Amino acid sequence: MARRKKIYEGKAKILYEGPEPGTIVQYFKDDATAFNAEKKDVIDGKGVLNNRLSEYFMTGLSQIGVPTHFIRRLNMREQLVRNCEIIPLEVIVRNYAAGSMSQRLGIAEGTQLPRPIVEYCYKDDALGDPLVTEEHIAAFGWASQQDMDDILSLALRVNDFMSGVMLAVGIRLVDFKIEIGRVYEGDFQRLIVADEISPDSCRLWDIETGQKLDKDVFRRDLGNLTDAYSEVARRLGVLPKTNVAKPTLIN
Ligand code: TMP
Ligand code: ASP
Repeated sequence: MARRKKIYEGKAKILYEGPEPGTIVQYFKDDATAFNAEKKDVIDGKGVLNNRLSEYFMTGLSQIGVPTHFIRRLNMREQLVRNCEIIPLEVIVRNYAAGSMSQRLGIAEGTQLPRPIVEYCYKDDALGDPLVTEEHIAAFGWASQQDMDDILSLALRVNDFMSGVMLAVGIRLVDFKIEIGRVYEGDFQRLIVADEISPDSCRLWDIETGQKLDKDVFRRDLGNLTDAYSEVARRLGVLPKTNVAKPTLIN
């Protein structure tokens, strides 16, 4: 097979040129990093689980009319996605205080917020993805006012969908991060949900026990990350209900 052209390698994924124009192959690595790659490890099976889980969430989103980059899963670690121009923002939606918001504002982790709060960080590893306001975004031309209206509406729809899907399996969606891409269709352009949605980019707590089922298990050394992600996959039916210990993936 001809060697595929690597387009970009990030901390958790590699992007290759896709088989048709306008497509990209997104490969999920087992690498985990935290605190801007100060902490690193290889977590056996993480890439396989995130490939499946991102497929599951993106497919569900498109079924309710939220446009995403996802086309189809290719194999255990790869999915075919639409090529898009990534807007250089991390869009974070928070339902409960946790992580950097708790630190910044001194609000205890787990405090329910009066309403979902959307935050934007400028995607720049060298700067540690700093929090920015819509003023920065407009002044520096990272996104237009129309884009920002669309991004807010996409983010809140993703939040409603993800909160409901998680609630149904006894998990609280504390917060999450998405990335947004721009695609061109003839004379038009539109924004779609891109990158990934997985326990790497969400905070997921068991409603009964408060147990963390997301990347904080790695960030804070709370146990086995693959077990946590497998539990999310199992509850969603992405993994068979039996055979929990061994993450044999159904097709
Ligand atoms: P934070 O509380 O550390 O700002 O994280 C908010 C949410 O965003 C949390 O669900 C984890 C996710 N996140 C990422 O996906 N990538 C990142 O680089 C960071 C810092 C957070
Ligand atoms: N900031 C990312 C996270 O903690 C990963 C990293 O920065 O290395 O999710």
